[in-house]
Amino acid sequence: SARVVVLISGTGSNMAALLDAAADPGYGADVVAVGADRASAAGIDLAKQAGVPTFVTPFRAYPDRDQWNTALAEEIARFEPDIVVSAGFMRILGPAVLSRFTVINLHPALLPSFPGAHAVREALAHGVKVTGATIHFVDAGVDTGPIIDQVTVRVEPDDDERSLHERIKRVERTMLVDVVGRLARDGWTLDKRHVRLGSPEPGPEQAP
Ligand code: GAR
Repeated sequence: SARVVVLISGTGSNMAALLDAAADPGYGADVVAVGADRASAAGIDLAKQAGVPTFVTPFRAYPDRDQWNTALAEEIARFEPDIVVSAGFMRILGPAVLSRFTVINLHPALLPSFPGAHAVREALAHGVKVTGATIHFVDAGVDTGPIIDQVTVRVEPDDDERSLHERIKRVERTMLVDVVGRLARDGWTLDKRHVRLGSPEPGPEQAP
């Protein structure tokens, strides 16, 4: 099974969905640890109750972002992950983490629209009729990496940030479980910005 470390900052409902999925041995991925940037992240208690190792690397305990990123990378490395999943992790990851691990991020909007920390609020304020969620590989930018999958959600006339985010989270959980399982079982290829799930197709020289 692929080893997965999940990073969270809050509730951790997407992390919990991954834990549920990984309970099935056929899923292909194991959540080997859950980490957070703050001790108050409720999802840390959820993970503990599920018997999953946890760590907290508090952003405020370090003099600067680089030192925090380095400490976080060391914590993650202890669990030797194949994939790091940022699921509601509200901090920007730097080169100390990104140079060592394959990181995917879950984002509550249809990127490249509405990157950043307030995606649901900004989509509502913009008046879009369709929004959704994106899973992408994390690169040096903020929510700019190659897109792995997206799912749409309609904005209803009476939506507020809370109701819309709740419907987005419902589809996020399904998409995250699907994508992590496929990455783990089938691998992926990346050609410039284009992500393809599954092993590479044989080139012409290998064709019978
Ligand atoms: C999710 O909707 C995720 O897309 C979002 O935080 C929520 C976490 O929910 N992430 C971002 O906004 C990242 N910029 P959860 O803790 O219940 O999984």
